[in-house]
Amino acid sequence: MSTKKVLMSSPEYFKVEYSINPWMIEGTEVDLELATRQWNNLKTTIELSGAEVLLVPAHPDQPDLVFTANSGIIKDDKVLIANFKFNERVGEEALFENWFKDNGYQVGRIPKEYKFEGRGDAFVYGDKLIGSYGIRSDKEALIYIAEQFELEPIIVELAQDKFYHLDTCFQHFSTGDAIFYPEAFKDSSLSAFNQIFNLIPVSENDANQLACNAVVINESVIFPSDEIDAIETVSNLGLTPKVANVSEFLKSGGACQCLVIALN
Ligand code: ARG
Repeated sequence: MSTKKVLMSSPEYFKVEYSINPWMIEGTEVDLELATRQWNNLKTTIELSGAEVLLVPAHPDQPDLVFTANSGIIKDDKVLIANFKFNERVGEEALFENWFKDNGYQVGRIPKEYKFEGRGDAFVYGDKLIGSYGIRSDKEALIYIAEQFELEPIIVELAQDKFYHLDTCFQHFSTGDAIFYPEAFKDSSLSAFNQIFNLIPVSENDANQLACNAVVINESVIFPSDEIDAIETVSNLGLTPKVANVSEFLKSGGACQCLVIALN
């Protein structure tokens, strides 16, 4: 399962102008020049880790479009586009839909009444759909996706608004290991994932720096800050930890993984 291509979107219109998660404080100033440098550094780090970066054009009305993880869920050449929970992000759906169509994907939609926020809450893992629900995505959406993609749904319920997507509190690696923040889940032992991953808990301090929102490119694991204890954990697993500081994006509740979706 190597990652050769990812999709990102440049931060030229990124800002925090509304609040749809507890990290977003309305009126917070984003240093756009710093954000742009951080985003470029993340992009370069991804490229140096061996993946090509494709871009969906930024849009002046969609400050959160930069978080391409939320675009949808991809299986081979098929994609099911997100149904965003909040109106503020619904305008992104058509932009992502068009990009995937223009790039040769078979694009589908899930029933409007089921909210679903893409790689934020779900991903394909072999013959399984790994997912979470309860805050941004609905359980029904995950069941529907599993049926469409003929996958076995392995899904868990989130417990805290602060960790509002699965990718804010869980990440898995090529070794079969995974880091997670126990308090973010209704079942803090995450027993549903136990058969599938070797689960390694992270501290509250790591969780609050969005350590689990590291982006994985093959053997490289790119963390959002160098003050994360899980960096050592990952290095002990034989993986290559890297750091791309994305502090400006944390103001919006997103870090490295949120800014990326793997295309294959
Ligand atoms: N401000 C964005 C939102 O609240 C951040 C999205 C982060 N994306 C993610 N995959 N966790 O929707």
